[in-house]
Amino acid sequence: MRAPEPGLRVAVLGASGYVGGELLRLLAAHPRVAELRAMSASRAGEPWSAVHPSLANLAGGERRFEALEPREAGSWAEVVILALPHGHSQKVLEAVESGEPGLVIDTAADFRLGDRALAESVYGPHARPDALGSFACGLADVEGAALAGRRRIAVPGCFATAALLALWAVAGSLDRGSDPVCFALTGSSGAGAAPRPTTHHPARANNLFAYALGGHRHQAELVERLRAWRGEAAPSCRLLTHSAPLVRGIHLTLRARRSGAAGAPAGQAREAFAGRPFVHLLERPPELSAVVGTNHAHLHVAAGDDGREVVVLAVIDNLVKGAAGQAVQCMNLALGLEETAGLEFAGLAPC
Ligand SMILES: NC(=O)c1ccc[n+]([C@@H]2O[C@H](COP(=O)([O-])OP(=O)(O)OC[C@H]3O[C@@H](n4cnc5c(N)ncnc54)[C@H](OP(=O)(O)O)[C@@H]3O)[C@@H](O)[C@H]2O)c1
Repeated sequence: MRAPEPGLRVAVLGASGYVGGELLRLLAAHPRVAELRAMSASRAGEPWSAVHPSLANLAGGERRFEALEPREAGSWAEVVILALPHGHSQKVLEAVESGEPGLVIDTAADFRLGDRALAESVYGPHARPDALGSFACGLADVEGAALAGRRRIAVPGCFATAALLALWAVAGSLDRGSDPVCFALTGSSGAGAAPRPTTHHPARANNLFAYALGGHRHQAELVERLRAWRGEAAPSCRLLTHSAPLVRGIHLTLRARRSGAAGAPAGQAREAFAGRPFVHLLERPPELSAVVGTNHAHLHVAAGDDGREVVVLAVIDNLVKGAAGQAVQCMNLALGLEETAGLEFAGLAPC
């Protein structure tokens, strides 16, 4: 394995997608990234700005997508970040790792779950079951220094990141007998760049609807984390997902019961995230526009009148904190860089 160098070489696979575009935006301005290559199967040879128009404004002039093979990406780069549709990371992992990059970060769901039975029950047969469990959970704001030195990291998805941050805020006092419920609203970019009936502008712009109420597949990510955090064999957590008339962002409301002896939930949440640079506990309900385009998460914790009910609100940008920004934060933590490097910018509000 090559040691990370001061000026990093980073390759992004699936660079024409929405997460790929955000990775290019963030990594092009990252102070420790010296060279950045964008692999695209569908747009090789075209300028980045042909797909991601705002990247025309990057310093340094026009750059182009390349038909970079996964093997070549792995041997050229110290860090390879996969921004491929679900099921593709497991197919390219061997080729990428044959080049011995120092670090592989996956933004897809392929390696988020360590439990093969759970993973295959939710996502179907896995091409690399041997690698399940070998990827560190890239919930950067919770894992922090535990990511140092890791060579494989799987970033939780956007819904899972919002839900897990809310759950972590009160994880220490959750009542084991009651199942937390997460009610979440997402913007249309969460479904990726390919148009679909449910992301088509007329169907989405002034509309609001629920989906996957029988059990959203990303519930599995919550269950596995709760298992690790609470030591329960089969914890349960409901994720109720809704499509909102937004392009970016997730607004999530967690409702849970706490054990009788637990102290004040807001103080507990502040302790859970003490010193973490991107999680902010607000005194009031958060607004999505305050975090859009950023790597920040805004949370608010409220206790019910009986002292047992707790509500945690969480807002994040699905493409940044929920994917590309968190991947960069994980890269920083894994390589011993400043955790906030390349991520210290405010958002756009109103937007
Ligand atoms: N969108 C979000 O908010 C979000 C949040 C968290 C996690 N994620 C996860 O991150 C990954 C990327 O998401 P995304 O929203 O960027 O998806 P996307 O917009 O659909 O982009 C995926 C990219 O993968 C490449 N690709 C390679 N083989 C493909 C194939 N057979 N069919 C379609 N695309 C193929 C394409 O890029 P090239 O042609 O350039 O190779 C495509 O642009 C997914 O696994 C997703 O679940 C997404």
